[in-house]
Amino acid sequence: MQKVYINQLSGHAGEEVTVRGWVYNMRSSGKLMFPQLRDGTGVVQCVVLKKAVAPEVWEALGHAGQESAVTVRGTVRADERAPGGFEIDVADAQITQSVEGYPITPKEHGTEFLMDHRHLWLRSRRQHAILLVRHTVVNAVRDFLNRDGHILCDTPILTPAACEGTTTLFEVDYFGDEKAYLSQSGQLYNEATAAAFGKVYCFGPTFRAERSKTRRHLTEFWMVEPEMAYATLDDVMDLSERFLSSIAARVLEERREELKVLERDTSKLEAIVPPFPRVHYDDAVKILHEGHGRGELEQKFEWGGDFGAPDETYISSRFDRPVMVHRYPAAVKAFYMKRDPERDDLALGVDVLAPEGYGEVIGGGERATSLEFLEEQLKLHDLPREAFEWYLDLRRYGSVPHAGFGMGIERCVAWMCGIEHIRETIPFPRMLYRLRP
Ligand code: 4AD
Ligand code: MG
Repeated sequence: MQKVYINQLSGHAGEEVTVRGWVYNMRSSGKLMFPQLRDGTGVVQCVVLKKAVAPEVWEALGHAGQESAVTVRGTVRADERAPGGFEIDVADAQITQSVEGYPITPKEHGTEFLMDHRHLWLRSRRQHAILLVRHTVVNAVRDFLNRDGHILCDTPILTPAACEGTTTLFEVDYFGDEKAYLSQSGQLYNEATAAAFGKVYCFGPTFRAERSKTRRHLTEFWMVEPEMAYATLDDVMDLSERFLSSIAARVLEERREELKVLERDTSKLEAIVPPFPRVHYDDAVKILHEGHGRGELEQKFEWGGDFGAPDETYISSRFDRPVMVHRYPAAVKAFYMKRDPERDDLALGVDVLAPEGYGEVIGGGERATSLEFLEEQLKLHDLPREAFEWYLDLRRYGSVPHAGFGMGIERCVAWMCGIEHIRETIPFPRMLYRLRP
């Protein structure tokens, strides 16, 4: 007997096959039963005729509730009206576990309830679609960077110091006599590997002990970070543009079905093509002032601050594709940012703001190359010099212009899927008030 997955049924029309899965839904009418089975690759409707199966099989199926583990043997039949285009006429079934009282039913549940049952919620069609988009985004990221000549150089999670600022560090006791911190970003190590390999990237979990309870923040998220030696802010913007457009194209190519389940307006993804507008921070502030003048923004934005979510949403609403805001005030950016040679109060950093209110998906820029400047910055930012000695070595031995960025995978996936909250884009989200399951 051929064991097949539901997404392979089209190759087996007219044949007898075995499908192993779980009951997704069950309808019955008298002498007919219609169990819908899911197996991780799809959902198929089965048709069970009372007289076509043994009485004990009919009886057992009749008691198999949602998420019962069931194997069916039957003939694949093409049916235009069926969701995947095929149904199975069942000749026999075997129940591995009969289930009663599965907590998640087709009725509406509140988000907290679903989050508490995340380990089960993952089986639902919508969650399934989102995580398949994530799978494609991750593959697209790796393929793009590998083809572009970046070498994967993974960076440590346990680190002795802050990268993005001390206020959001998770502290870990490191064998009693030393403290370690969960990495906020692999960037500083990327700068070392970029000097060794030219073009690199790291891709792994990063941690922010942020007390932000927003739809864009996780405390543990996956970040991909490319870094390039002999590169500038403009190179980072060029790369961001090519990178994001290749991800969107790949999602459109591989995930049509899932985007349909998510009711995603795919024209929004088709619009993600270079060139992306490049807007100086000063001009972004002008856009915000105009918005305030027109009464579209409540508060008047003060030059010098970092943008909040409503500001980012407003700026991006003025454009039809992602917008790259560059040259932020150095005072609101990290210690390692290179200053604009033409304006010392500005940093050569860029944030890529996604449309539709998804906000910053990429942050990056050019790194400071001068040893003296960085020594001074460490002091100003109150960072422990000894933990950064190795980093300063990179400025002592062959310091060159270099640049890179970081993209949070979950923010990108939320945007691709067009979903409200980032918590659904990772199998087990970690947030301010959520460490379980
Ligand atoms: O802008 P961030 O903090 O930049 C860095 O960490 C740089 N060191 C990266 C680099 O240049 N190599 O973070 C980069 C991206 C953000 O644009 C966002 O997509 C994501 O990481 N991100 C978060 N995603 C989810 N939850 C959070 N709390 C996030 N914080 C940042
Ligand atoms: Mg940022």
